Amino acid sequence: MTLVRIQNVMSNELSKRIFLSRPPEPPQEFLLNDPTNSIFLGITKLFSVPFTWTYSNLTNPHIAVVGITGAGKSFFVKTFITRASYIWNTNAIIIDWAGEYVAWVKQSGGTVISLAKGDYLNIMDLSGMKPIDRVKQIMNSLDILTDISGFPEQRRLTAEAIEQAYINAGFNLAAPASPDGKAPTLKDVASLLDEKLQEGSYEYPAELENAIYRLRQFSREGEDYFARESTIDLGKLSSSGLVDLDLSSLPDERFRALAALFILQTLKEKMRAEGWSAARGLKALVVLDEAWKVASDERSDAITIIREGRKYQFGLIVASQNPTDINEAIFSNVGTTVMLRIRFEKFMNYLQGSLNFSGFIRREITRFGVGQAAVDMSFNTSVQFPNTFIIDRIIGEVPLNSYTITIAEVLNPDELAARETQKEYSFEKMDLTSKFVESGLSSQVIQDIFKDMDDKNRMVDVRWLVQTISGRNVGREIIISFLRSMGVSDSIITRIFTYTS
Ligand SMILES: Nc1ncnc2c1ncn2[C@@H]1O[C@H](COP(=O)(O)OP(=O)(O)OP(=O)(O)O)[C@@H](O)[C@H]1O
Ligand SMILES: [Mg+2]
Repeated sequence: MTLVRIQNVMSNELSKRIFLSRPPEPPQEFLLNDPTNSIFLGITKLFSVPFTWTYSNLTNPHIAVVGITGAGKSFFVKTFITRASYIWNTNAIIIDWAGEYVAWVKQSGGTVISLAKGDYLNIMDLSGMKPIDRVKQIMNSLDILTDISGFPEQRRLTAEAIEQAYINAGFNLAAPASPDGKAPTLKDVASLLDEKLQEGSYEYPAELENAIYRLRQFSREGEDYFARESTIDLGKLSSSGLVDLDLSSLPDERFRALAALFILQTLKEKMRAEGWSAARGLKALVVLDEAWKVASDERSDAITIIREGRKYQFGLIVASQNPTDINEAIFSNVGTTVMLRIRFEKFMNYLQGSLNFSGFIRREITRFGVGQAAVDMSFNTSVQFPNTFIIDRIIGEVPLNSYTITIAEVLNPDELAARETQKEYSFEKMDLTSKFVESGLSSQVIQDIFKDMDDKNRMVDVRWLVQTISGRNVGREIIISFLRSMGVSDSIITRIFTYTS
């Protein structure tokens, strides 16, 4: 007994001493991996080791990225998915809450899907699934996004009507759907409930009315973003290179969350159906940027993907300004946490509480400049060194310096519908500068305008641009000459000024 206790004391002493004498950075063999099978992210601050990320020594491939606005979360995400695509041919699907990635994805040759701006999703689409499974998923989304779970009878009526709509459309509830079957929509479901109400034989008409009302919120004309035939091939989403799902035009957070949940559900099914393959690296990365409702609810499939993703070579990247918006289950399960600059004590306490880093790291994080990061990794073997280290700066792909000016908002419906109408103009910074100079803008004004455009992620509405330029006391002739040099027609220029003043 005594002997054992002495041994314990000794080994405690020993581990303390090891801790003190070891540098607060994981040893090289954990940071520096085969460059053809890992992703370079930056140089460590203390010992200048090139840090290359691979998930083969981590508990899983998922990543949480946190930091204040402007700290560099999106920059990290872009860098990461670009390199993953070089190294492993990894596909990426960005669930883009604020439309932040649109310009970059376009410039990188990826596909942008703009919901409510020409693209639609039918959340009853099956893409090979059994209808009965989709019914469960739709009910799950309604549970997360509406009050339906508090009304069991309405919930039962709704689920039943969704099943009936599939049966009426010729599907077998328990059989995987054939790809060419045309799925019903939530409009059909609401109509079925309506018919039941009209029949008058159901004993609780108020329950029916409320169930219909809830569904109509997602299927009303003009707000039927998820109740029309899909314009997207869902089956190809995770194998189409770089895809940006732009949710910014949807009217509110609930619609955005519904789209995000639906996409996650579909990807989860796809991931399970495809299973593991001998391919190296990651097959697909799913990015959730600022999707708080989707990242915070424990019933969300973000959490299922986190739990199962490793075996299917699917990685999830969750980015947020507010770490407390990310569900504990995500935080405790991700293999990598990237902490950019953080200011609020509350957030810092939350992170330090769950990751257990030192006071030194904590102080550093509050002082970070743009792109500086502390990285915490959870290795799949037990290790004798601290898991958190600092990289001097995320070393990214050279940012593309292209600026996009959109005129869509001043076009009339016919022009918008016409294929040949140009709806936006993109220029390299150099080209745009020379247009500004030739139109007669001073170099100070040009500098200011670029700064303002950078703040808008280099994608601006023409009316905003005109207002920004006139706000600097620039005459109208100069602005007109600039718009002409861009290639905008005089009739549209007139309209721009009408809409701007
Ligand atoms: N590691 C870096 N190296 C060079 N520039 C960077 C780096 N990180 C970020 N930047 C630049 O800083 C600006 C802000 O970065 P970014 O858009 O990634 O911030 P964010 O954290 O996503 O902010 P938000 O929460 O507002 O979306 C961008 O112009 C970006 O190009
Ligand atoms: Mg961002």
